[in-house]
Amino acid sequence: MTEAKRLAAEKAMDYVEDGMIVGVGTGSTVAYFIDALGREPDRIKGAVSSSEQSTERLRKFGIEVLDLNATGPLSLYVDGADECDTAKRLIKGGGAALTREKIIAQASQRFVCIIDPSKQVDVLGRFPLPVEVIPMARSLVAREIVAATGGQPVWREGVVTDNGNWILDIQGLRITDPVAMETAINQMPGVVSVGLFARRAADIVIVGGETPRVF
Ligand code: A5P
Repeated sequence: MTEAKRLAAEKAMDYVEDGMIVGVGTGSTVAYFIDALGREPDRIKGAVSSSEQSTERLRKFGIEVLDLNATGPLSLYVDGADECDTAKRLIKGGGAALTREKIIAQASQRFVCIIDPSKQVDVLGRFPLPVEVIPMARSLVAREIVAATGGQPVWREGVVTDNGNWILDIQGLRITDPVAMETAINQMPGVVSVGLFARRAADIVIVGGETPRVF
């Protein structure tokens, strides 16, 4: 799937305009997108990054990393996903960067999601749904998740997010109403964010392949 990721990432360059500030996601597909930006680093004004990992890679290419508070709204956000349904709703957070990704997606006019074909699903939930939690609320949130969703939360032990928090991965879900589930989990005290991108889904999805599929 590596080649499919690269092809999706390169197709996303079609949406990059000269002088833009580009929102940049996290993960192995986005790494190819950063590499593509890095081949012409002066074409864009800078980037807003969703993780320390992406920041490091952007800076290696001499791309300036800017603060979202200073840039204001962005025209373009490019990011990968762990799962994507036909309505462009996503599960994200496999790399634990979901909260910053969600912030940048919300601040962007256009969210272009780049995936390989294995990420496409009819119903979200096969990939365990990540939830970022404040550490002291881990058990409380886990109990509330069981009661509200019937899924099984598993602590991603040893992982600390860029924001200093922990991750629960909810297994065994079949998410037939992603907006309702996103809203319900968001409201639990101690939840920082949930990796369901349904209220703010992707605008454009690029599925990598010899001829990338765009929908
Ligand atoms: C990061 O937390 C995730 O949301 C990524 O967007 C996702 O895991 C990307 O997957 P790939 O590494 O397969 O691109």
